[in-house]
Amino acid sequence: MLHSATAADAADAAAAAQQPLVIFDTTLRDGEQSPGVTLTVSEKLEIARQLSRLGVDVCEAGFPVASEGDFEAVQRIAAEVGPLTDGRRTGRPMVICALARAVESDIRRAYDAILPAPLRRIHTFLATSDIHLQYKLKISREQCIERAVAAVRFARSLGCTDIEFSPEDAGRSDRAFLVQVLSAVVEAGATTLNIPDTVGYNTPEEYGDMIRFLVDNVKADRPIVFSTHCHNDLGLATANTLAGIRNGARQVEVTVNGIGERAGNTSMEEVVMAIHTHPTVFPVFHNIDTYQIYHASQLVTRKTGMMIQPNKAIVGANAFAHESGIHQDGVLKHKATYEIIQPEILGMPSKALVLGKHSGRNAFRTRIDEIIRDTIYQAYIAREPTAYETLFVAFKKLADSKKRGVTDQDLFALLDDHLNIH
Ligand code: KIV
Ligand code: ZN
Repeated sequence: MLHSATAADAADAAAAAQQPLVIFDTTLRDGEQSPGVTLTVSEKLEIARQLSRLGVDVCEAGFPVASEGDFEAVQRIAAEVGPLTDGRRTGRPMVICALARAVESDIRRAYDAILPAPLRRIHTFLATSDIHLQYKLKISREQCIERAVAAVRFARSLGCTDIEFSPEDAGRSDRAFLVQVLSAVVEAGATTLNIPDTVGYNTPEEYGDMIRFLVDNVKADRPIVFSTHCHNDLGLATANTLAGIRNGARQVEVTVNGIGERAGNTSMEEVVMAIHTHPTVFPVFHNIDTYQIYHASQLVTRKTGMMIQPNKAIVGANAFAHESGIHQDGVLKHKATYEIIQPEILGMPSKALVLGKHSGRNAFRTRIDEIIRDTIYQAYIAREPTAYETLFVAFKKLADSKKRGVTDQDLFALLDDHLNIH
């Protein structure tokens, strides 16, 4: 960016006042609730490893009571990814989190699943909006408080010290009642209060005001982290999340590519890059390694089969494509004329090489090296250099059958099919 000295000074001053922002990734839980998406245990493990390299602080690995498969996935992530610290800026492993309804059997199952992780969190939730209390749960507000408190106490009694509570449908709940419920669960031992706009109903002003109101009014005798959890039904999930940060939230719940129930959850890459491009607006810092964003996005696309729309912010195929003559001319003169982010800092390979049936080994190898930088594929190929030849032969076959050239997606599929990594 073309910053003046004064803008740089302001950025330094803001950096001095920055507070940590916890990045809570729920790609494997709320993300997997996307219609039509089912991930196998080994796919979940692979995504969890990438989330760890990405620098995610808390990984919501699943909802163990939902099925045997979910339990196994959470347990294996806790055991195999939970201890990993490689490539992480903090040197600390991810906290592995499991979701549970405010029911003892769910909470026990969740705790059993996360037990192998060095750092673990139980996330329990109960709806608080009148519409959910009346029609779904058929309980009174008093019963709601009792259940919420009992759930948090039960989690504590198991020995869990990191407990998150979510008042489901907070976005449509009565604020005074939310203060009552949340103050009660804090007293019972909750350490993070997550405020879901479950149905994606709020506007940024409303959501930001709600977070501010709760930060100011919930009674707590110790520091509590307030968290955002937004859905994208009105296309406002990222804006609402950012409004939450501006109003005191210090955790954001996000998914890679914004996948999730219905229109999806807040997209991790959008929030991270909004903070990155506006350091003076958001007085927070996070541990995400932006160079891992593109790879995480591609991996989630391949494993879930959920294609990203070409014009998707940050990671869409057109996010850095310039079509009009005026824009192309500007970018050629100086990239900052029409690019607010350098695609390289997302770990995106340059678009200089187009691979097709006429491409040779050198171009192929260069492209492979670009797209696998800092990934498990790179470590594997370093150990098995003959892999390039195996891949090249497969690439040639594929290129023959492709009219429009071979994409990075195709190359990743080749890597998955021809290297025995997982
Ligand atoms: O959207 C929601 O309310 C949720 C909760 C379980 C946190 O995903
Ligand atoms: Zn949700």
